[in-house]
Amino acid sequence: MSGKNWDRVPIDAQSVDAPLSLAAVFLVVTVGSDKAALSKVASVLGALDDLVKNVGFRDLSGRLSCIAGVGADLWARLSPDRRPRELKAFAPVKGPVHSAPSTPGDLLFHIRAERSDMCFEFERILLDSLGGSVTVVDEVTGFRYFDARDLLGFVDGTANPTGLDLPASALVGDEDADFAGGSYVVVQKYLHDLNAWAEMPTHLQEEIIGRTKIDNIEIDDDDKPRKSHKSLATIEDDAGNEYDILRDNMPFGRPGQKEFGTYFIGYTRYLWVIEKMLLRMYVGEPPGAYDRLLDFSTPHTGTTFFAPTRLMLQKLADGAQE
Ligand code: HEM
Repeated sequence: MSGKNWDRVPIDAQSVDAPLSLAAVFLVVTVGSDKAALSKVASVLGALDDLVKNVGFRDLSGRLSCIAGVGADLWARLSPDRRPRELKAFAPVKGPVHSAPSTPGDLLFHIRAERSDMCFEFERILLDSLGGSVTVVDEVTGFRYFDARDLLGFVDGTANPTGLDLPASALVGDEDADFAGGSYVVVQKYLHDLNAWAEMPTHLQEEIIGRTKIDNIEIDDDDKPRKSHKSLATIEDDAGNEYDILRDNMPFGRPGQKEFGTYFIGYTRYLWVIEKMLLRMYVGEPPGAYDRLLDFSTPHTGTTFFAPTRLMLQKLADGAQE
C-alpha cells in the first residue's frame, strides 16, 4: 500500500527501519507504581539516545540501535491527556483450538546490533540505569539463523515492505497527526514443538506456511479450503488495498532445555491490522479454519506498545520529570 502526505512525517522516527540484524534482545519490563520509579524511568528514556551512542560508538560497524515502546498503562501515567488513538493493552484472542494470551509490559526495548556483545553491553548498562524502578518480566536473546530462517526451517521476513512502502506501513501518518512518525508494536513469544514439526512431511509444512521451504517461493492457495499462514496474514480492505506490517522475528532457544522459539515482533501504522491478522490466524478464515502453524507454535506472551518518535519520547520524558 502507499501512504499519503509523507512530507509531514517527522524524520526522527526511532530506528524502526533498521535493517535485520544478526543479534537482538527483546526486553520487556514493568515500572514500579510510585512516583520515584516513574521519574527515574522518564529520565532514562530521555537519555536513551545518548546511551545508544555511548555503547554504539565503540564499534560503529556494529550498528547498535534501540527502540523503546511504551504500553498503554505507562503511557497514561506519563501523558494522561494525550495518547495515540489506537493504543490499548493487547487484547487476548480465543480461537476454537488455540488462544493468544495478553501478558504485562510497560516498556519494550528492542535492541539490535551486528554483535551480540553490543546488545549485551547495552542491556547491561540500560538495566543498571533503570535500577529498582523496573521489574524485568521477559528477556529474550535472539539470533539470525542461516538465510534469515526461523527454527521451523522457513525463510522469515520475505514479504516485509521495503523502500517507501516501509514507512507507509509501519509509521503513523496524518490520520493521527500528533503521533505521526510513531509506530504500534506488538510482540509475542512463541515456543515450537520441533519434534512434531519434524514429523510433518515437507510438502505439508509448505502448505501450512504458504511458501516452499528450500527456495522460498510463494504457493497460491486462494482456491484451497484451508488457507496458509501467509494468506491468513494478508490483510485487505473492501477496496482491495493490502495492509502490510514490518516484522523482525528472531529465533531463540536453548537446545539443552529443549526450548526452541520464535520471537514475533510487528511494527504497524494501524494497530487494527495486526489485530485482524491475529483474528484470522486464531479464529480462522472461514471461522474454524485456523492457522495450522499454531498446532506447532504456542504463544507465551502477548503485549502491545507504542514506539513514539525521538522527539515525542523526549517530551514524554521531560513532562514526567517535572
Ligand atoms: C509471513 C513465520 C507469526 C504475520 C510469514 C512467513 C513465515 C512466517 C515463514 C513467510 C515468509 C515471509 O513473508 O516472511 C512465522 C512464525 C511465526 C509467525 C514462525 C510464529 C511462530 C506471525 C504473527 C503474525 C505474522 C503472530 C501477525 C500477527 C505475518 C505476515 C506475513 C507472514 C504479515 C507476510 C504475509 C504476506 O505474504 O504478505 N510468517 N510467523 N506472523 N507472517 Fe508470520
